[in-house]
Amino acid sequence: MKILNTINGHKSAKPPVWIMRQAGRYLPEYRQLRQEAEDFIAFCLDPDKASEATLQPIKRFGFDAAIIFSDILLIPWAMKRGVKFITGTGPVLNPLTDISEITGKRVDIANLCQPVAKAIAKTKSRLPKETALIGFAGAPWTLMTYMIEGGSSRDFMASKTWLWTHPKHSHTCLEILSEYIVDFLKLQAEAGADILMLFDSWAGAVPASLREDIIFKYHNKIITALRRAGVTQPIIAFPKGLGEGLIAYSDKVDVQVLALDHHTDVVWAAKTLRSDLILQGNLDPLCLVAGGDSLKIEIENILNAFLDRPHIFNLGHGIVPQTPLAHVEQLLSWVR
Ligand code: CP3
Repeated sequence: MKILNTINGHKSAKPPVWIMRQAGRYLPEYRQLRQEAEDFIAFCLDPDKASEATLQPIKRFGFDAAIIFSDILLIPWAMKRGVKFITGTGPVLNPLTDISEITGKRVDIANLCQPVAKAIAKTKSRLPKETALIGFAGAPWTLMTYMIEGGSSRDFMASKTWLWTHPKHSHTCLEILSEYIVDFLKLQAEAGADILMLFDSWAGAVPASLREDIIFKYHNKIITALRRAGVTQPIIAFPKGLGEGLIAYSDKVDVQVLALDHHTDVVWAAKTLRSDLILQGNLDPLCLVAGGDSLKIEIENILNAFLDRPHIFNLGHGIVPQTPLAHVEQLLSWVR
């Protein structure tokens, strides 16, 4: 598998490429399949449908990796936080107001998320040999924001306030989530995922003074627990929005791949971050909507920044539904 070769430190003439949120609403075949599911959670928990959605972008574009069709909010769903996906609004949860709501009986993630393991096993058997399968989870802080805000947020008013007003309860929450994340990733690794990815989409909302305590520490706990449990798959981390904090992150957290968001200067990252770390990213998803000469120039800038080190081509965040399919085809032909 080309992407595993790259993760093992081998530079190839053309980088492996995949796209965050590659199974999604920009694909007509996804929108069709989505209509057949009762709701989004039921879709994620249907191994046949989830496997089909995972394979759709591989069949159409032949990316070097597939990412299992699932969601980071399956953990809060398993914790009975009332997770619902409302069209046009996004995810909605019962806002967590007191830590006692989640400190009771330990949730059996391996059992409740078993359909994801089934989807992984099924997808593995249907994927081309050269295509890697990525399993994933949300990181503790990002999941905590959804649970406290009761959904998506612009300013993280409630969750950031919790960090300062309830530091002890915040750590209890992050601790509990870390254990469930380990269970979820271990399940996916055992089912056949080749790579694991940890999405900390809202890491950038954490004040710099608390990054060590809220972000780095829990990523390390999760990785240590996985390795202790015998999980050997390489790990991609996406601590989005850290900026210069990526230096401390890469010094302190033992991941194999660091996914860069599109606000990170690739020339800076390629020169500054430790040379044994594999970097992934980081085209602006809206540049892929724009297309044309600008798309070509932005892709060349990224490829040129990584001429001297292994690199996995990707976007800096998820592909948006408005993206024309022709632009994805163009991206692939230019990268390759
Ligand atoms: O190809 C893939 O990446 C599919 C698997 C995948 C999904 N979500 C499916 C999905 C992955 C890796 C995710 C991760 C995810 N989910 C993240 C981290 C990555 C990031 O984008 O920062 C986050 C924050 C979520 C939470 C989430 N799920 C939100 C905020 C939303 C609503 C916003 C939206 O895009 O609609 C979802 C729903 C969701 N998850 C969709 C998909 C394809 C769209 C829902 C639909 O089809 O109606």
